Amino acid sequence: MATNILTRNDYAEGTAAKHFFFSSIVMLNIGVFLALLTSMRLAWPDVFPNDIPWLHFGRIRPVHVHFVIFGWISMAFAGAMCYMAPALCKTKLWSEKLGVWNCWAWNIGMVFVFFTLINGMTSGREYQDLIWPLDVFVLVFVFAPLAVNIWLTMLYRQTQGLYVTMWFFGAALLFIILSYFIGAVPDLFPVTGLAEAYMTWWHAHNILGLWITPVSAAIAYYIIPKISGNTLYSHKIGHLHFWSIAAFYSTPGAHHLMGAPIPEWLKSFASVSGVLIMIPALAFVVNMLMTMKDKWWMYAKNIPLQWALTGVLFAIPLNIQGAFQQTRALNWYIHGTHWIVAHAHLALLGFSSFIEIGAIYYGLPKLLKRQLYSEKLARLHFWMMAIGFLGFWSVLTAAGLVQGAAKVYEIPYIQSVIATHPYMVGRVIFGGMIIFAQPIFLYNMWMTAKYGKKISPETTGGRTPVGATA
Ligand code: HEM
Ligand code: HEM
Repeated sequence: MATNILTRNDYAEGTAAKHFFFSSIVMLNIGVFLALLTSMRLAWPDVFPNDIPWLHFGRIRPVHVHFVIFGWISMAFAGAMCYMAPALCKTKLWSEKLGVWNCWAWNIGMVFVFFTLINGMTSGREYQDLIWPLDVFVLVFVFAPLAVNIWLTMLYRQTQGLYVTMWFFGAALLFIILSYFIGAVPDLFPVTGLAEAYMTWWHAHNILGLWITPVSAAIAYYIIPKISGNTLYSHKIGHLHFWSIAAFYSTPGAHHLMGAPIPEWLKSFASVSGVLIMIPALAFVVNMLMTMKDKWWMYAKNIPLQWALTGVLFAIPLNIQGAFQQTRALNWYIHGTHWIVAHAHLALLGFSSFIEIGAIYYGLPKLLKRQLYSEKLARLHFWMMAIGFLGFWSVLTAAGLVQGAAKVYEIPYIQSVIATHPYMVGRVIFGGMIIFAQPIFLYNMWMTAKYGKKISPETTGGRTPVGATA
């Protein structure tokens, strides 16, 4: 491997992954705490003084969304990439130093994100809310260095082939950079009106479909065979999954704009082409569940596996729900209601976050060369989050149906707000379970780093999953 300023006097192996994993857990804690404030606002609009703009719903909501997507999920992805890429390429991370700098720049970026959004400095476009200097920051100091580090690790690999996980990591990094740039174009150049709306939602859809979905899947492709000890069920299905994501996932971006005055053909195209997303979704779920053949007894026993498999199981209702709700008739009913918020959390909290948490329970103790401090706390974390999430999703879905009915019967909007009040209180209660589960996670990991029983290198070795070089 060529040495240069970034690889000379490098940090110890795994330093970057540890930085990213710990940062992601802190981001998760901040992100969900902000959610507590927003959800209380929706349950009791006057709960906080109304003359403090920082506490307004419209200020806190985008900070919550950015902290969970770009702080928690994306930093957990970076940690997983810095941990798994060297193991799968049988080499070191190209530059631990670059990884650590990348992580600090990312954290500093999140501080800017917090202060700009909370002060109302926003582009006003969901999932692309940042002002243009921060868009440039994200591209140059967040995604580009991560991509360089992972691509160069792949280039200098000591294996012949590349395991499925690496295809997804490599491609998703390219997708997010392209998509983020295109999504930021209206901030940098004068693009307005429907073109702006379409670019915004095309990008938002890609954050979900070409970043969060494939990288979550890639992580599952690593840890499920690895922990179960089974070979990946089918590399051919893995190919199908990969290429169908690349081919079909970005086309239905307009299914987020079914109620907007965009051309009718574009809506129909999005609705029909969106059905094709079922192909990668099914391929992934089938591949993972079949990999568990004869090993399902491990589901209840192994903590990281329990998290990751629960995330995979959430992908089933998520994708079925997605396919139905993009049909034009059904979308008219549930668009703009809490149903969509329930779907969004099934996706990012249920499917994706459960897999990332599994990856952290699996990887972080190994990186720290210590045993998990407390299995009991990890189980408590799991059940608080699982029960909290199922309650959260159920009350929001029901609230969405109430709002849809109010729309059909043309009931005054304020009546539907009153009717959904009990559901909003339900969200605070169930959401509270999820929120208070996260300090437990942080505490358990902190104590693992400090006081976890030391384990010898032999027990941490052999990180490559079975069948990984095919
Ligand atoms: C077959 C698969 C899927 C289909 C067809 C689908 C379809 C849709 C549609 C039509 C909407 C917009 C509804 C509206 O506002 O009227 C939506 C929203 C959303 N979807 Fe999915 N979905 C699928 C899977 C996923 C996955 C895998 C993720 C992420 C991991 C995801 C994350 C989201 C999020 C976060 C929103 C909310 C966007 C917003 O803020 O309005 N979906 N989905
Ligand atoms: C990892 C955990 C979480 C993730 C990834 C996440 C993600 C998201 C996303 C993507 C949205 C935008 C949804 C949309 O536009 O349709 C959102 C909104 C929201 N989230 Fe979360 N969330 C998480 C945890 C929570 C928790 C624990 C609560 C607790 C109450 C919560 C409460 C809210 C609220 C109140 C909104 C605004 C909904 C609205 O505009 O009606 N979130 N979250």
